[in-house]
Amino acid sequence: MKNLKGCEEINHIKGNNFGWLFGGKHYDFFATILGFGMPYYNQVAEVLPLETGMSVLDLGCGTESVGIAISRHLAKDVDIHGVDLSGTQLDYAIIKGLRSGVSLNLYRGSMDLLPFSDGSFDLVVTSVAFCETTSEVRKGAIMEASRVLKDKGFFAIVDCAKPILGMDTVMMLPFFMFKETAESWNNHYPDICLENNLILENEIYIKSYVKCQLFRKAD
Ligand SMILES: C[S@@+](CC[C@H](N)C(=O)[O-])C[C@H]1O[C@@H](n2cnc3c(N)ncnc32)[C@H](O)[C@@H]1O
Repeated sequence: MKNLKGCEEINHIKGNNFGWLFGGKHYDFFATILGFGMPYYNQVAEVLPLETGMSVLDLGCGTESVGIAISRHLAKDVDIHGVDLSGTQLDYAIIKGLRSGVSLNLYRGSMDLLPFSDGSFDLVVTSVAFCETTSEVRKGAIMEASRVLKDKGFFAIVDCAKPILGMDTVMMLPFFMFKETAESWNNHYPDICLENNLILENEIYIKSYVKCQLFRKAD
């Protein structure tokens, strides 16, 4: 894991850092209980435009379950990079990568300050991490995602969204109603993305309160 410059100082300013009790194996345990176990990550992988040999960046990757699911879908023929604020999350991602034989490139830092050159990735994805940051960080992350994507590359925002009816909505709503998710609930991502040359191609609910919006970078 690489610590990006200034990552100690930006902790908690840029978003909720899932450390100690809420990070690593505890995160995976609680996430599974709350319906974010492997079936959810497989669903995310299934709605993404995956192709063998592609380069993928996961923003707010946590314990990198998304990257591992993507890698399994592509029989490990993929280059996965993940960025997260939390060393606890990334340390456990390293262990999971080793256990599952998936090679992961992990960086500790904020999703709005990416250490990659322009046009580095075929796909940038983020799963329930935007809702853990501030509006300013989300806008910065979208700008950075567009910059590091190749022309015609894909950007997938998987985030808490205005709920459609479902039992899981009733159970989970208290966890999400206090989060700062205005862009998602009011569906502002398409406009913010458009300002950054990212055009909405498709959207689909993965859960009754979690939506995947898929954008494509115009060339
Ligand atoms: C709810 S977890 C989601 C983790 C993972 N994407 C998943 O689907 O399981 C949110 C993650 O976002 C990370 N995070 C919060 N703000 C961040 C930021 N500004 N930059 C990078 N990661 C951030 C947290 O440390 C945490 O690991």
